[in-house]
Amino acid sequence: MLEVKDLDVFYGGIHALKGINFEINEGEIVTLIGSNGAGKTTILNVISGVVKQKNGDVIFQNEKINNLTTEKIVELGIIHVPEGRRIFTALNVEENLLMGAYLRNDKKEIQEDLENVYELFPRLRERRTQMGGTLSGGEQQMLAIGRALMSKPRLLMLDEPSMGLAPIIVQEIYETIEKLNEERNLTVLLVEQNANLALQVAHQAYVIETGEIVLQGTGRELLGDDRVRKAYLGEE
Ligand SMILES: Nc1ncnc2c1ncn2[C@@H]1O[C@H](COP(=O)(O)OP(=O)(O)OP(=O)(O)O)[C@@H](O)[C@H]1O
Ligand SMILES: [Mg+2]
Repeated sequence: MLEVKDLDVFYGGIHALKGINFEINEGEIVTLIGSNGAGKTTILNVISGVVKQKNGDVIFQNEKINNLTTEKIVELGIIHVPEGRRIFTALNVEENLLMGAYLRNDKKEIQEDLENVYELFPRLRERRTQMGGTLSGGEQQMLAIGRALMSKPRLLMLDEPSMGLAPIIVQEIYETIEKLNEERNLTVLLVEQNANLALQVAHQAYVIETGEIVLQGTGRELLGDDRVRKAYLGEE
C-alpha cells in the first residue's frame, strides 16, 4: 500500500533521515519505535507532505505522492494524527469531529461516520458540546483519533498516541486501534516511544536510531530481541 524509498531529509545542516526504506501492506499495523530525536515524526511529516525530502520517494497505492500538496494527500486517505493532538480548543467536540470531514460533501455518510465515532468513543458522545480545550488528555487523544476517522482514512498515522496518558487510558486507546484494524481492516502506521505496547499490536516493526533503521521484524520478533529489550523495554 505504502512504500518509502531511500528517504533523506536535512534540516539545515542536520541529516535527520539517512536512507529510510520500509513498506506497509494493506490491513497491517506497522510501528516505528525509537528514542527522542530518532526521526520518527519526520518520517510521518514527509509522508503527509509537511516536510520535503532531499532524496527518495513515497509511493502510495502505486502513485508517487511526494510532489502532492498536503490537501491532496489527505484526499487520498492518508490521515496524520500529530504528536500533541492539536485539536481545536475553541470548538466543541462535535465541531472538532466535523472538521475532520471538511473535504467531504456526502452529508448522510458524514452523519453515519459521526455516529460510528460516538459508538467507538462513548465518552465523546457524552461530551459532544464540551469545548475541546477543556477535555482531559485522554479525551483529547480520543477526539484526535475520532476526527481522523471522520476523514475516511485508508492509512491512519498516529504519532505517540500514548504520550502523557494514564495506563488505563492508553490501554483503551490501543484496544480501539486494534479494533479498527481487525474489524474495519484499517491500515495503521504507529509511531511510539512506548515500545512495549506498540510491539504487542504491530504486525511489522522498525527501530529507528539517529535517522536510520537499525532493526526490523514482526512485533513479536522485536519484543523478544535482546537489543530491543535492553534499549527500549528497560530490561537488564
Ligand atoms: N523543523 C525542524 N528544524 C530543525 N531540526 C528539526 C526539525 N524537526 C526535527 N528536527 C530534528 O530532526 C531530528 C529528528 O526529529 P524528529 O522530531 O523526527 O524525532 P522523533 O523521533 O519524532 O523524536 P521524539 O520521540 O522526541 O518525538 C531531531 O534531531 C530534531 O531536533
Ligand atoms: Mg516525534
